[in-house]
Amino acid sequence: MRSSFVLASLTLALVAACNPSKSKETPPAAKESPEVAAEAARVERVKHGEALVRIGGCSDCHTPMAFDPKLGMPVPQMDRFLSGHPEGAPDPSAAPGKGDQAVIGPTFTSFRLPFGVVYAQNLTPDPQTGLRMDGDAFVRAMRSGKHRGAADGRAILPPMPWMNMQSATDEDLRAMHAYLQSLAPVKNAVPEPKVPAQVIEELGKLNAQLAAGPAPKPSAPKL
Ligand code: HEC
Repeated sequence: MRSSFVLASLTLALVAACNPSKSKETPPAAKESPEVAAEAARVERVKHGEALVRIGGCSDCHTPMAFDPKLGMPVPQMDRFLSGHPEGAPDPSAAPGKGDQAVIGPTFTSFRLPFGVVYAQNLTPDPQTGLRMDGDAFVRAMRSGKHRGAADGRAILPPMPWMNMQSATDEDLRAMHAYLQSLAPVKNAVPEPKVPAQVIEELGKLNAQLAAGPAPKPSAPKL
């Protein structure tokens, strides 16, 4: 009697050990609700976007730099990360010299080209002065070279390398957008470009050609 009781309890204990739902520690799979899965996917998308924004060198133009006299070189101002040309910061003081394509301003966010001055935009999610594009508009802007992805948007101007994103998938671009939306918002109203309307119109035609054509390939990759 006693031994069969022991056997029965042992069997019960074994069944409990083999049945995950009965064990004390709930395994991760059983815990995962649709909300948890969606949140995990969002975190993954933001991380992927962060990697692409780093590889894309977006910060090089969109984060203002300050000259560090100790290092003898410009360093990014991380409290203004990706917030574009600082409101009120000076334009490049000199005009491009003979044969020069552009002069870069003291914060590395303003560019004087032969036809005018262009300012790196604020990519942070500040509602008044930031990116102000949803994911769909961001994908359209990067695919079309049109400001804010609007059908009648002005040309996105050089040196913004929007055409380089042709190698990115829509999913990559959405991940970059999700990462930009996750940043700390920085209030910074970037000035409008000082470029004549006629030049912007001509660049619009060039952008349309670039958008329709294949991604620029310097040479065929050796596979
Ligand atoms: C070589 C400098 C440079 C680099 C690198 C750069 N940008 Fe820009 N970006 C600019 C400038 C300048 C503008 C403003 C162009 C204008 O006013 O039309 C701009 C504008 C933008 C805009 C606004 C487009 C619109 O709708 O008007 C977005 C979005 C953007 N950049 C995202 C990025 C991302 C993402 C990366 C990295 C993959 C990046 N930029 C890399 C210089 C740069």
